Amino acid sequence: MQNRFKEKISEAVIALNQEAGSRFNGATLNSFDFSRDSALTEKVEKYVDGFWKERNGLFLWGKFGVGKTHLAIALAKQILVSASPETRIPRVKFYSIVSAMNSIKESIRQDTYSDAVDALKNPFLLVLDDLGKQKMTEWAGETLFEIINFRYNWLKPTIYTSNLPLPDLFSDMGGGVISRIKGSCKVIEIKGKDYRLNA
Ligand SMILES: Nc1ncnc2c1ncn2[C@@H]1O[C@H](COP(=O)(O)OP(=O)(O)O)[C@@H](O)[C@H]1O
Ligand SMILES: [Mg+2]
Repeated sequence: MQNRFKEKISEAVIALNQEAGSRFNGATLNSFDFSRDSALTEKVEKYVDGFWKERNGLFLWGKFGVGKTHLAIALAKQILVSASPETRIPRVKFYSIVSAMNSIKESIRQDTYSDAVDALKNPFLLVLDDLGKQKMTEWAGETLFEIINFRYNWLKPTIYTSNLPLPDLFSDMGGGVISRIKGSCKVIEIKGKDYRLNA
């Protein structure tokens, strides 16, 4: 029973790796270098330790290349491997906002809109990468509101990443979205330099 549970968790980690892309296969908390932002370790540990009790989401923001996507995926994996038979196998999904919005748009033509939106509404934990990078039309705003509001109402944690601080997303995303994110997420800024430049 215990072994079967562990096997299922490993399968879920592999599935997550496939969604995120091979660059992030090795993205774990252990492979994340915390030395560039000394306050970050403590904030991340606190989030992980409280996760199963508080079930908070996370709003991770910072400049390009500071490790937002890496850390978001690492946290999703950590949450998966810290699941217990009581919490069952949490469904964890990773989406980049741009491709998520594109596939939702495409689904309208194929008459599968509700399936496409459900894919983002329903997972227990959702990583939504690069919030703010989507083209902001009225339609995109409404669709995002539908997803974020659903997850907020059903207490489903979401890990968002963004280049922008929350208040700067305000202008084109509408106050309702921002207040729901604020009300359900810890906000962590990742400081430091672009890691890609001296990888
Ligand atoms: N602190 C870090 N420790 C280890 N690798 C990092 C760190 N920050 C970034 N990287 C690596 O640098 C690359 C860019 O990071 P990424 O997470 O894509 O940045 P961002 O999403 O903030 O633009 C990735 O390959 C990632 O694994
Ligand atoms: Mg990124």
